[in-house]
Amino acid sequence: MDLKAPRGTKDILPKEATKRQYLERAFEDLCHRYGYEEIRVPTFEYTELFVRGVGDSSDVVRKEMYTFQDKSDRSLTLRPEGTAGVVRAFIEHGMASWPAPLKLWYKLNMFRYEKMQKGRYREFWQLGCEVFGASASTADAEVIGLLDAYFAGLGLEGIRLEINSIGCPACRETYKAALRAYYEPELPHMCEDCQVRFTRNPLRMLDCKEDSCSRLAEGAPVQLDYLCDDCKEHFTLVRQALDKQGIHYLVNPRIVRGLDYYTRTVFEFVSENVGTQGSICGGGRYDGLVHELGGPDVPAVGFAMGVERLMLEMEAQGITLVEKPGPDLYIASFSATSADALALAASLIRQGLSAETDLMGRSVRAQMKAADRMGAGFILVLGEEEVTSGQGTIRKMADGSEETILLDAIGTYLKENKEGKP
Ligand code: HAM
Repeated sequence: MDLKAPRGTKDILPKEATKRQYLERAFEDLCHRYGYEEIRVPTFEYTELFVRGVGDSSDVVRKEMYTFQDKSDRSLTLRPEGTAGVVRAFIEHGMASWPAPLKLWYKLNMFRYEKMQKGRYREFWQLGCEVFGASASTADAEVIGLLDAYFAGLGLEGIRLEINSIGCPACRETYKAALRAYYEPELPHMCEDCQVRFTRNPLRMLDCKEDSCSRLAEGAPVQLDYLCDDCKEHFTLVRQALDKQGIHYLVNPRIVRGLDYYTRTVFEFVSENVGTQGSICGGGRYDGLVHELGGPDVPAVGFAMGVERLMLEMEAQGITLVEKPGPDLYIASFSATSADALALAASLIRQGLSAETDLMGRSVRAQMKAADRMGAGFILVLGEEEVTSGQGTIRKMADGSEETILLDAIGTYLKENKEGKP
């Protein structure tokens, strides 16, 4: 057996993990400043949740789920996305009675059995937000604004925001009828999937990847022309709230999104750098989902962003992320003093500093080299004399300057003298 990570998955090695931590922390920090709180939901759910939540006409449910029977013969599925699980938790814990709006964020790995491509994995990570209880257009504009602020904060430019409205169930019926009327004469020339979509959900015909079907989709009627007055007004207000924040967008009437739960506003942040599908982030309003899954009538809006695609975009725009910073102090030691060095490092770490020491029994010369390689701010050689006298000479790596100080005072000294001190 070839012991490799399964196709479509990848190990996140320390260098990449450091970059991801940076992206995740920036997201967490921004979400907290916007008043969002974290939610974590299980990695797997009962399959039925996704079939009912994401929708059985979506590709995600029809083709891409990792579904299995557990030992009690229950059908479980590794989450292909986060919204359904968060909505399930919202209902299960009676969050509709919590102060509204409830603003949640998450950082979760997802699983989809998809064809491997650039920016497309079978296990991938999403950073997402879901807002419950707010039907106002400002909620749509807030989540989009949060994303815009996030990209700007990372120094990313030129990611295109595309928005659309796909209406409410009422005006969607009129639109579906118009779509069926358009597609009906062409049906015999369309792919098998679209033949099924025609009856089940003709909206899905619009994002078919088959050449002949996608050519036809270009001439199909668009939902924007069939919006009811309320949906039209909502969309206008969303656009005005985006304008007020100075956010540029393009109205793309072809965005339908691949999941079935959306109502009204849908949006994507797209870029040519992240693979053929180009979407770094997708989201929208889903006013009917909480009710459909057995909860009260609670409106909601949210998004999820693919971390791997975000990293591709960062790379393409030449934005290098911070590498792991070196320790504030490296304490070189001899075999007789290695435990003292460890104790000193531990005490500095407890004071909020970073410190490393040798665990390999290497020569002092080799330890100096290691300290240099890891980018330590200061170095101290701790011999028996230093341990006995309680003082040592600390050297600043940047300029070689030295100072002799009490070992007990090193913490204070480092706090006052280290690079980038707060
Ligand atoms: P989605 O468009 O299916 O939406 O996925 C959101 C993002 O996840 C995509 O824009 C992409 O960056 C990333 N993504 C999707 N599939 C893959 C894959 N196979 N490999 C790598 N990245 C991928 C949702 O999941 C909705 N739950 C978003 C949402 C939240 N809508 C409302 N609330």
